[in-house]
Amino acid sequence: MSEHFAFKKLRLGVNIDHVATIRNARGGAHPDPVRAAKIAEAAGADGITAHLREDRRHIRDEDLALLSAELHIPLNLEMAATEEMQAIALRWHPHAVCLVPEKREERTTEGGLDAARDTNRLRDFIAPLREAGSRVSLFIEPDEAQIEAALRVDAPVVELHTGTFCEAVEAGEAASVANELERLRKAAALALEAGLEPHAGHGLTFDSVGPVAAIPQLAELNIGHFLIGEGVFMGLGPAIKEMRSIMDEARAPAESADRDTD
Ligand code: PXP
Repeated sequence: MSEHFAFKKLRLGVNIDHVATIRNARGGAHPDPVRAAKIAEAAGADGITAHLREDRRHIRDEDLALLSAELHIPLNLEMAATEEMQAIALRWHPHAVCLVPEKREERTTEGGLDAARDTNRLRDFIAPLREAGSRVSLFIEPDEAQIEAALRVDAPVVELHTGTFCEAVEAGEAASVANELERLRKAAALALEAGLEPHAGHGLTFDSVGPVAAIPQLAELNIGHFLIGEGVFMGLGPAIKEMRSIMDEARAPAESADRDTD
């Protein structure tokens, strides 16, 4: 595959988990994550991402049922690789399933899945999801060993964890920013070269999204917490549109690459 190969459009998946976090802080039904998903859809999101956690701290089963019924854009269900979650995914057969590591005590998904250590189990776990028609992705650190493991378990998509890069941007650590960006670039190129579709996400903001969006091999970014937070100040729709426009601007030079795809 040519190193100039690029996905023409970088998709934006909007993660609406933290609308549910705010709702759950008080109980009741407000604010409604399904309403947020519809606003995201109207603002140009290419997909909606929702993480059904074991402890249901934000998205709940009934949200998933409503999202499955009411969305017109693809739903990406993030979940741990547990039997309970597999049964739920097989019930709702979302467009995509992103497998993430999950620790009860963590505040958010702190690192990538260690696919390299769990190859046999993951292969068996993924097979029925793929047969049911969901595109399975693995949320991994941008490392060669994890990409190789994704190939071994037959996951067609990898989502590269951008958390460390975003922390470096926030801390203003130029050397770490450069190192982490290089890791992401290399991993995206390697994944695409190997026949996987590379996505990326976690912790992205208006300040950090540009260099990641400029990586031509990436096909999709998934962004949540910052957009929901920024929605408080500028409105969710405008925040999504602003994110979209920064992504498009960063990606623009790649659109003249030799080989573009849809
Ligand atoms: N991608 C994955 C796999 C995630 O687990 C998360 C967080 O739930 C995100 C993207 C979005 O991260 P953030 O909410 O920090 O934008």
